[in-house]
Amino acid sequence: MDIKRIINQMTLEEKAGICSGGDFWSTKGIERLGLPKMMFSDGPYGLHKNSSDSNLESYIHAVCFPAACTTAASFDRDLIYKVGEALGNECQSENVGVILGPAANIKRSPLCGRNFEYYSEDPYLASELAASQIKGIQSKNVGACIKHFWANNQEHRRMTSSSDMDERTAREIYLAAFEGAVKLGKPWTVMCSYNRINGVYSAENKKYLTDVLRKEWGFDGFVVSDWGAVNDRVSDLKAGLELEMPTSFGMNDQKIVEAVKTGELDEAVLDKAVERIINIVYRFIENRDCNAIFDREADHELARKAASESIVLLKNENILPLSKKDTAAFIGYFAKWPRYQGGGSSRINSYKMESAIDMAKDIDLIYAQGYEVHDDIIRQDLIDEAVEAAKRAKVAVVFAGLPDAFESEGFDRTHIRLPQCQNALIKAVTNANPNTVIVLHNGSPVEMPWINDVNAVLEVYLGGQAIGGATIQVLYGEVNPSGRLAETFPLRVQDNPSYLYYLGEGDCVEYREGVFVGYRYYDKKEMGVLFPFGYGLSYTAFSYSNLKLDKTKMKDLDTLTVMVDVTNIGKCAGKEVVQLYVAPKCGQAIRPVRELKGFEKIFLEPNETKTVTFTLSKRAFAYYDMNIQDWYVESGEYEIQINKSSRKIILSASVHITGTVHKKIIYTRDSTIGDILHHPNGSSILKPILDKYSLTGYGEEDNLLGDGTKVMMEALIKNMPLRGLISFSDGSITFKNIEKVLKELNSI
Ligand code: BGC
Repeated sequence: MDIKRIINQMTLEEKAGICSGGDFWSTKGIERLGLPKMMFSDGPYGLHKNSSDSNLESYIHAVCFPAACTTAASFDRDLIYKVGEALGNECQSENVGVILGPAANIKRSPLCGRNFEYYSEDPYLASELAASQIKGIQSKNVGACIKHFWANNQEHRRMTSSSDMDERTAREIYLAAFEGAVKLGKPWTVMCSYNRINGVYSAENKKYLTDVLRKEWGFDGFVVSDWGAVNDRVSDLKAGLELEMPTSFGMNDQKIVEAVKTGELDEAVLDKAVERIINIVYRFIENRDCNAIFDREADHELARKAASESIVLLKNENILPLSKKDTAAFIGYFAKWPRYQGGGSSRINSYKMESAIDMAKDIDLIYAQGYEVHDDIIRQDLIDEAVEAAKRAKVAVVFAGLPDAFESEGFDRTHIRLPQCQNALIKAVTNANPNTVIVLHNGSPVEMPWINDVNAVLEVYLGGQAIGGATIQVLYGEVNPSGRLAETFPLRVQDNPSYLYYLGEGDCVEYREGVFVGYRYYDKKEMGVLFPFGYGLSYTAFSYSNLKLDKTKMKDLDTLTVMVDVTNIGKCAGKEVVQLYVAPKCGQAIRPVRELKGFEKIFLEPNETKTVTFTLSKRAFAYYDMNIQDWYVESGEYEIQINKSSRKIILSASVHITGTVHKKIIYTRDSTIGDILHHPNGSSILKPILDKYSLTGYGEEDNLLGDGTKVMMEALIKNMPLRGLISFSDGSITFKNIEKVLKELNSI
């Protein structure tokens, strides 16, 4: 399609009009030019497609796949790709050009109401998984829309709050969650977030929409506003926001027209925006697959597989898998009516749902409701009934979790407790039956005050419409659990690094914890956690051996190949998530103890061994240096750790890296002696004046300062600025001497 020719035929008003929606869910078409409109549907884990122009509350029956909090725990790129493929196919069959997902925002706090839609507290994991979902969707010639770009980490005042952080935190954590996904996944569209970043609305943040997203990362699609995120339309357009959604009923289009007429806006900027939008419309139209069939049954099966591969076994004291021969008490409302998706724009009108009870037809079952979901009131009658059921059964399985009113888009949680009626129920059931298993349906971590009293815990998250079947498969050993936590479960919400400043004051939200988000913080402080990042059990066991690095010394521009053998040493087949972390052992920068830089999920039969290979490049070792405004690798030792979680190191090996970026340091009178001694010639340059130096005024001769004098003197000198030498040298060091030293230091 000759898009430039179409644009040339458009009036100014038509061009401005293309830059906003025609209705709540579609772009505008222009009949006279044959330009079609294109429809969006919400995602990210199913089609939330409006089915009627007149009724915004009417949505098609679709398949609800597990939410991102669940699939993230699969650590499985291929699985997420397959879900993406299915979504892409559903879009083709429903004539949807772009699906609004994946959502890659970092889980800064377990309190964020929308965590269920997001993948992880770790940017590498989030961005790899988002890239897989994008690639899967777009393999069907349908656009993905990665959202919400960026720093949308709370619901409270989400349309006005400002996420304030330094550039290092931005680059290493919050932008990084998008960066890999944009570079690898090449999404057709990006949705800008509602919030501001360091005071500037995302929608008009040129630095990030244009300089970073387009110029640095190579994004070539269009940016769409989150629904209603446009602030000042002309500034937004100039900053790189092409499409306003849904529509401002022509009012903002008119502002664009006027700005062009008055010369405030260069028409070329408008033309470029129109070109980018139409490009995507035609990319979809020209690759329409009118034969695509939305096979709901097949997609339901895939939803079940995705859920079963994501369930995390958190505790198992010789109880799971259960035997179908034993009588089981399934206790809890969620056994019959699982909470399987979150609330808000992502909500799917599921064409069907299966519960654990529905899928346990061949098991001798007793059911008791146990608690109310609509009110958190302890109902003793329901508890008594549950206790009776638990006593009559060999094993009690309590289906607990968070009701809709506890977490959703639109508001944040204020605590991470389960409803008290559920905690009371669990206590009563564990007293009644020594074989108790807990199944948790929740979108974000919860406290578990009963953890020592139960035999097993299965975290099924918000597992989609087929979660019932998936839960039965794992409970009864048809599927060996292989999910791993994509987030830390803290002991208490107060332990979370953002706790003191989360939600901010008014619109000002300071990200004072910096890069120490999630395990980066807990590990650095060596704090106890309920379950660490990357943790999850299996019904089999794996052993690791033969960790090999292809080199022990390298430059930061070289790549490092890491290989490790993993063997299934248990009795049943299973999947293992092999996790690679890099732990810097050198340098001056304040950094996390370790960071996830590689993961692979592998399937192993009993006694089978596979070699897993990782390739690491500069980014795996670098931090973002604010002085040079770039990624920087400090020279020295780095440990490669192969772990079971962020806390459990299995094997490790070291590599020495030489950084190739030379940081030009300008020495001044305020440079400390310690810093100068780091200069390659620092000690020889300083020697002539240090020889003249004696620290006067401290009564050194009389040893008034005690045995620590030498240590103290060294520390004083190391931390003293160059100019300080003057005051402590009896006048024998002059400003001239200091100027000479600086000249020599700075000339090299
Ligand atoms: C949400 C987006 C969603 C959009 C359209 C917004 O309120 O933040 O995630 O895609 O609405 O429903």
